[in-house]
Amino acid sequence: MSKVTVVGAGNVGATCANVLAHADVFNEVVLIDIQGNMAKGKALDTWQQAAVDGYSTRVAGGDDYALTANSDIVVITAGIPRKPGMSRDDLISTNAKIVVSVTQQILKYTKNPIIIVVSNPLDVMTYACWKASGLSDKRVIGMAGVLDTGRYRAFLAEALNCSPKDIQAMLMGGHGDTMVPLPRYTTVSGIPVTELIKKDQLDAIIERTKFGGGELVNLMGTSAWYAPGAAAAQMAISIIKNENRIYPCCVRLNGQYKLKDIFVGAPVKLGKKGVQDIIKLKLKKDEMELLHQSAAAVKDIADALDAMNIL
Ligand code: NAI
Ligand code: 2OP
Repeated sequence: MSKVTVVGAGNVGATCANVLAHADVFNEVVLIDIQGNMAKGKALDTWQQAAVDGYSTRVAGGDDYALTANSDIVVITAGIPRKPGMSRDDLISTNAKIVVSVTQQILKYTKNPIIIVVSNPLDVMTYACWKASGLSDKRVIGMAGVLDTGRYRAFLAEALNCSPKDIQAMLMGGHGDTMVPLPRYTTVSGIPVTELIKKDQLDAIIERTKFGGGELVNLMGTSAWYAPGAAAAQMAISIIKNENRIYPCCVRLNGQYKLKDIFVGAPVKLGKKGVQDIIKLKLKKDEMELLHQSAAAVKDIADALDAMNIL
């Protein structure tokens, strides 16, 4: 029996649950939201889709955490997006309280889950979840890099007129404007991307990637959900299938990259233990500087959260 719970049945959570059901690798997907009927309804809709699309995964939903008992993996998407007039601190405090309360309720019914955090601000919400959970830092992982490299790969595929499937890319740092895409670790079917694209074009793609979330907010008035939901699902699938896929994930660094006790994006091998390994790249001086700038930006937000005495 394998089971995954998705908390937050809004845009990202409902998409993630739907993608997970389609993957047909879990026996059960549970969708939880404080809007219980909405979670129940979306779960029922996804279950009815099983007959049409041909999958066996059972889907259930509601607001009762008893439904989540003995989950292998929990994906937390509960939270609010930043609204006009809201300060960054308001968002941190609101979402941290939600993430902490969700984490506590999950742990009442599941002793040792692997948790994938999606709620924003991502790196700091992953830290909040880890701190509230008391779980090993191998078992609390944030989703951002799979989405951010997805955007980067899509933009590159457009520029090169090739399939995004053939583009492999790595990216580090926090989920924000300071993220660090790494052209030196970007290839197209094994060919270094720098052999295929002009530097100014690549630089423009990197800049567009950094602000990729904002581009979608400007278009839709709210943040993206298809790619984010699918990205979180892909991480859960690598874990449950023990695939050891290597993805950029938000994890707690403990000396790697000369960073300690901070949750930030790095290349991670994902398998049945959660974080199987954090890959140590030999970054060049300028890449390392960018990573440290990004980590400093994340630390500012983590310090603001610590000062609120929520954890
Ligand atoms: P949404 O507003 O569509 O859904 C959020 C859901 O959380 C709502 O249904 C709400 O009822 C629920 N919720 C609120 N408090 C709850 C609680 N205490 N327990 C259970 N459910 C609760 O928002 P959306 O678009 O799904 O985004 C969710 C979060 O994911 C936001 O914080 C957003 O910024 C973040 N996000 C992160 C990304 C990433 O790359 N890490 C990408 C996209 C979104
Ligand atoms: C995104 O990158 C806002 O984190 C969200 O789409």
